[in-house]
Amino acid sequence: MLDRIADVLPSRVQRQVDQFREVFELAAELRDPRILRSLGPSGARGLLLQRGKQGVPTHFHSRHRAYFDWSYPADQPEMQDLYRRAKQGQWNGEHLPWHIDVDPLNPEVPLLPESFVDFAYLEEQGIRLDARERRQLLHSLATWMLSQFLHGEQGALMASAQVTEAVQFFDGKYYGATQVVDEARHVEVFHRYLDTKCDKLYQINDNLFVIIDALMEDSRWDMKFLGMQIMVEGLALGAFGTLYKMTGEPLLEALLRNVIQDEARHVHYGVIALREHITKELSESERREREAWAFHVSMLMRNRFMAYEVYDEWFDGILPRHKWRTFVQRAPGMEIFRRTMFSRLVPNLREIGLMSEEIQKSYARIGLMQYFGGRAAPELSGEELIADLDRAA
Ligand SMILES: [Fe+2]
Ligand SMILES: [Fe+2]
Repeated sequence: MLDRIADVLPSRVQRQVDQFREVFELAAELRDPRILRSLGPSGARGLLLQRGKQGVPTHFHSRHRAYFDWSYPADQPEMQDLYRRAKQGQWNGEHLPWHIDVDPLNPEVPLLPESFVDFAYLEEQGIRLDARERRQLLHSLATWMLSQFLHGEQGALMASAQVTEAVQFFDGKYYGATQVVDEARHVEVFHRYLDTKCDKLYQINDNLFVIIDALMEDSRWDMKFLGMQIMVEGLALGAFGTLYKMTGEPLLEALLRNVIQDEARHVHYGVIALREHITKELSESERREREAWAFHVSMLMRNRFMAYEVYDEWFDGILPRHKWRTFVQRAPGMEIFRRTMFSRLVPNLREIGLMSEEIQKSYARIGLMQYFGGRAAPELSGEELIADLDRAA
């Protein structure tokens, strides 16, 4: 009904109605008052005020405590081992094959294949694109995805620095410092790729902003950890993995292969730190709060990355926004993205103790329990992750 009313409104009004609707939908999803307290203000800043789109800089207030230990304990052998591997696994972003000439409109080496979206659906809506326009639209979508990766990496850079200060394991601090360098390198290479090969940068998506805002402003280190190391890293692995599988462009493939191996370590670190903390330190009610929070963020990541920034550029006033949503939701590439993301994320949530029988019912309702038995991050090396993706390609 709302969709039909929206169809007849001018596009500017449609967009405002849509923005309010997103906020109401988010609020309706967040029935648990503790979750609403945690995600609500971020939702208002991201969706209503669109603070990520108001120019430079954006300030966040962080209120976490820095945890010092003057006795320098060797307290976590698994983190110590990760630290050793992280030092050995460092690579220099300058050594990627930057000499490769990327022509985003060349059909021989597409950034994304035509099968990423369903052009037939657009035709049913009366929108016919010729071969060149199709490639341009795919280029816009690929650039949009890469721009969100870049913004997410900036979030990861700040969050990993905060978490290094706040974490109570000393071996975690050593390891965390390597992650800060990793994330800086990721920002460097994605930015260089967008800047020199795509000539374009999209603004941050409002829903990604909401997640980053929530974890920057939360004072509890384990919430930052859960948000960054498990949820956003899970999202990143899903998205990087999908693009790695689907792109035909060799520089991007090499870049993603390296980044994915770093990210595998980051999720591994998140799982061992949180497993220890959630199962041994938290009360049952604190555990339940984190469990519910993770479920809501999962829904946010499943339902809300709609590339409206691309819609605004291409179809504003031509195609109703809810039809664009259907187009994005149904895109075969998005299907692969959701599968890749949740097949990694769900086993990790199980591993850290956030998958009680009670919450399993909610995951079953949205069709995600099929991933419950999968391998969690500590059982999967970066090489295995890549081999998995190569096999599925
Ligand atoms: Fe990263
Ligand atoms: Fe990361």
